[in-house]
Amino acid sequence: MLLDIRNLNIFAPTPQGEVQVLDRVNFRMEAGEIHTLVGESGSGKSLIARAIMGFVNPNWRVQADRLWFQGTDLLTLTPRQRKEIIGIDIAMIFQDPLRYLDPNTTVFEQLNEAILNRDINASYWQRKQARRDYARKLLLKMGIKNYQEVLASYPFELSDGVAQKVMIATAIAHRPHLLIADEPTTAMEPITRRQIYRLLAQLHARYQMSILLITQDLSTLMPETHRISTIYCGQMMESGPLADVLKRPFHPYTDALSYTSLLQTERLNPRDRLTTLPGLEPTLQHMPRGCRLGPRCPNAQRKCVIRPDLSAASKREYFCHYPINSEESES
Ligand SMILES: Nc1ncnc2c1ncn2[C@@H]1O[C@H](COP(=O)(O)OP(=O)(O)OP(=O)(O)O)[C@@H](O)[C@H]1O
Ligand code: SF4
Ligand SMILES: [Mg+2]
Repeated sequence: MLLDIRNLNIFAPTPQGEVQVLDRVNFRMEAGEIHTLVGESGSGKSLIARAIMGFVNPNWRVQADRLWFQGTDLLTLTPRQRKEIIGIDIAMIFQDPLRYLDPNTTVFEQLNEAILNRDINASYWQRKQARRDYARKLLLKMGIKNYQEVLASYPFELSDGVAQKVMIATAIAHRPHLLIADEPTTAMEPITRRQIYRLLAQLHARYQMSILLITQDLSTLMPETHRISTIYCGQMMESGPLADVLKRPFHPYTDALSYTSLLQTERLNPRDRLTTLPGLEPTLQHMPRGCRLGPRCPNAQRKCVIRPDLSAASKREYFCHYPINSEESES
């Protein structure tokens, strides 16, 4: 198991008192998997990524029965030990590369910083050249043919697509075991978007790199995805192999996302959002008791004010008292 998160709770202080932003989140990933986490804006997707990376606001309270990465409980590590793991084995790319690349240094300098000595097999006086060669190769792998020009550029001189490719190159310079891609193509042109996803698929195929892809956009489901998880208002809804979940969602939320019909009828539009449920998401200060989908759920009943326990059935997991399409619902 690459990643094993059990009962992750995150509480944030507000003037009205503490609010629970993540509510007993369970999330697991096998090594070599592409796992897509889908949910509406504000559902807690980035927060899960930040909890893995150890970047949660220090004033927020993080609690978990387990936050394991490759068998190590990240919550028990010192900040220094955690930094070592994050620096080498886990990397993250973000929606807005220009915000995260250093505006004051060239692309080469940024790549050079990300390249580890262990990957440079050269004598002391040949190191500089070897690092430059390594940086060139990285950009070539990203499909950047004018790599000389790009290496000498500052981030603001790059297009969005090239900046994102540079960010990916920086993230994978030391071949992390897990790459977290948090909405990496939002606001990009469809062609650039496709290029970035093709690149991620190639990285996965070439290095068996595990990828956690975060998205709220239906058009960005990579066909190579192995498993998919859905999250709503800080609560995990369902998780399972992509094809099974799309064909036979157990959870009313997943069903409402209408992946199957959208994919089958090819009504996918790059700008489609997950707006298939009536009503609005509640605010953090006014979360419903029990299952947070309750007020918007077509299947809700009185029992739903009690948070449903995890149900598991052959590689599938879901949290719902009244699942659809499952044997439980048919009996
Ligand atoms: N710095 C912050 N201060 C206050 N609340 C925050 C902060 N960051 C996140 N939140 C709240 O935490 C919740 C989860 O946010 P998160 O950023 O994880 O959502 P998300 O699913 O990534 O959304 P999006 O798809 O829009 O990026 C949201 O309700 C959000 O309002
Ligand atoms: S537990 Fe109840 S409210 Fe929640 S998704 Fe299932 S049926 Fe709907
Ligand atoms: Mg986010």
